Amino acid sequence: MSSSYQPSYATYQPQQRQQPQQTSRRRYIAHRVKESLTSRFAKCLCSLVLSLLLIVAVIMFILWLNLRPHRPRFYLSSFSAPGLAQSTSPVNSAFTFNVTDRNSNGKIGIYYDSIYASVLYNDNQIASAPVLSPFYQPSKNTTVILGTLTAVGPNTTDPIWDHFSADVATGQVRLVLKLTSKIRFQVKMWDTRQHNLHVECDLTVGQDGNVLSQYVNERCTVYF
Ligand SMILES: *[C@@H]1O[C@H](CO)[C@@H](O)[C@H](O)[C@H]1NC(C)=O
Ligand SMILES: *[C@@H]1O[C@H](CO)[C@@H](O)[C@H](O)[C@H]1NC(C)=O
Ligand SMILES: *[C@@H]1O[C@H](CO)[C@@H](O)[C@H](O)[C@H]1NC(C)=O
Repeated sequence: MSSSYQPSYATYQPQQRQQPQQTSRRRYIAHRVKESLTSRFAKCLCSLVLSLLLIVAVIMFILWLNLRPHRPRFYLSSFSAPGLAQSTSPVNSAFTFNVTDRNSNGKIGIYYDSIYASVLYNDNQIASAPVLSPFYQPSKNTTVILGTLTAVGPNTTDPIWDHFSADVATGQVRLVLKLTSKIRFQVKMWDTRQHNLHVECDLTVGQDGNVLSQYVNERCTVYF
């Protein structure tokens, strides 16, 4: 496009009187030159903006890779429910547990609200209590969560009692240990919004009231 009007420039003589036809041709060429410069400028600006956008996107991606928060990881370290070993109701007996809570983030600390623990049997809550007051967990830190809960069920008049005593008779009782809290990630200078934290550790308690070995150090499920 740029070379087509080059010869016209060479033959242009300013001293000569302009014929009406020549004048309109000059206007046309001037118009074409202006148009071409404008479109070149627009193309240039466009590619500059695109490269800038690309650079910004790459920087944002690298920052995101480095700073995106990972959820804390929870592992069931021990659990015992001596009261379950008897064939009587476990009401008033104790559940004790040890769960490790690992913040694997390199640059991100976590603020925890109070942690509540509960034990579920067949989706029925049979014990619950707060186990830890609010705390701050630095990056790359493992916090041990210890708890002792008192069983409030099932008792012999509960609808699930038959199911429960049958489980006790087989020597294996499936339970869920549930932890809930609210957490906030602290990314260097700014705090992120608050998330509701739910942790679920599936486990089975054997005849001696202790968690079966295959459930020890199992990773618990975490969801927000
Ligand atoms: C809890 O479990 C962790 C990891 O297995 C262990 O290091 C810690 O000593 C345990 N704490 C108690 C009080 O049992
Ligand atoms: C984790 O953080 C707590 C509180 O800051 C600290 O007392 C504990 O020593 C830390 N544990 C590890 C393994 O760094
Ligand atoms: C047994 O548990 C039910 C609810 O789970 C409760 O309403 C009832 O009072 C309890 N009975 C005894 C004897 O504790």
